Amino acid sequence: MQLTGTRPAGRPAATRSPAPPQQPDWDDHPDLERIRGELAAARGLVTAEEVAAARRALASVARGSARALQAGDCAEGFADSGRPRTRAKAAALGGLAGHVSRRVGEDVVLFARMAGQYAKPRSHGTETLDGAELPVYRGDLVNSPAADAASRRHDPHRMLRAYRAGAEVLDALRDHHRDHHGDGDRDGRTGARGERQGEEQGPKERGPWVCHEALVLDYEEPQLRVDPLTGGTYLSSTHFPWVGARTRQPDGAHVRLLASVGNPVGCKIGPSADPQSVVRLCEALDPDREPGRLTLIVRMGRAALPELLPDVVRHVRRAGHPVVWLSDPMHGNTVRTRSGLKTRHLDDMIEEARCFVRVLEGARLHPGGLHLEVADHEVTECVGGPVRDESALAARYESLCDPRLGPEQARQLVDAVL
Ligand code: PEP
Ligand code: CO
Repeated sequence: MQLTGTRPAGRPAATRSPAPPQQPDWDDHPDLERIRGELAAARGLVTAEEVAAARRALASVARGSARALQAGDCAEGFADSGRPRTRAKAAALGGLAGHVSRRVGEDVVLFARMAGQYAKPRSHGTETLDGAELPVYRGDLVNSPAADAASRRHDPHRMLRAYRAGAEVLDALRDHHRDHHGDGDRDGRTGARGERQGEEQGPKERGPWVCHEALVLDYEEPQLRVDPLTGGTYLSSTHFPWVGARTRQPDGAHVRLLASVGNPVGCKIGPSADPQSVVRLCEALDPDREPGRLTLIVRMGRAALPELLPDVVRHVRRAGHPVVWLSDPMHGNTVRTRSGLKTRHLDDMIEEARCFVRVLEGARLHPGGLHLEVADHEVTECVGGPVRDESALAARYESLCDPRLGPEQARQLVDAVL
């Protein structure tokens, strides 16, 4: 299907009041409008049919007949958009999804943090490196991680590079999927019961599904498109966008953006999310109470979750929202080593995810699955399993942002939790 019908992209985020949080400072760049126009005129990275199929896949998770695994890098780099890296990541994520599937004896729907995970929210605007204060790295979509002032400048041309990198990654992912799954895997699932060869389907009715945090409004809003079949609006930058813990204000610009699209959407739920604000979020993002529409990604941290989650679950259930519940045991458990490196301990993650499962099952709800930051090779960014202690972190610490699990650590987590 050729995509048609762009939506008017509205105004650059920097010109709005109140100013949306976590946006780049393009510094009145003269090319911003032209770049937004190019994004608006470009072919959608994903199609309306794919988005609808991804939503059906999540509906099966919401109904309790499948699980979801949302996983990948914390931040993708443009340098990784070529075929070999994309295929390696797809193979590793597919392997992990298969592992989960065999463990739980259910189909697993895989959402890769790929083809758009290029922008990062940050807690601090600057960092001090070798005595110099520099703007912080905000993802390849905004600036470069290199430690000098020119590299850290926010450059709107990077939005076009993000679009092209996303297109390249998606092409490679689709090829990889075709090579490994044939044409029969209609809903992009990895099945413990084997692949579904030969079912009736349209050519665009299968995964792989991709997801990213919809953070930079000047990148996302021009990629709104009209679904020619339904006349509805969808976001064509990814199948499954989510709002992060720092931008999930129920009446904020990011929630409004996701409320306006037909994609399945996600929302991170951190320790500061009180039950009433979560219900307001559900009302904004899932007003029709439809299974598959909204996924709540719980990242409260090992210490806070047992206190906070039961009440949130009770309120959401009472309000009648059939959400998918995922556990992100990574983002609430980040600590710094004595040398200042960000890390996470496998024990903390396992404990948080186990407690998540206990709370959901205690409420007779389906623990929908896991949201993990995981590399395709054995990095040494988190402590636990093959990474004995903090002294072993230096060997292969490669993340552009948050510390990821290696494949072996991810399997150990899955085995301990599911
Ligand atoms: C992330 O998923 O990389 C992230 C920044 O998460 P959160 O919004 O939960 O902090
Ligand atoms: Co992260």
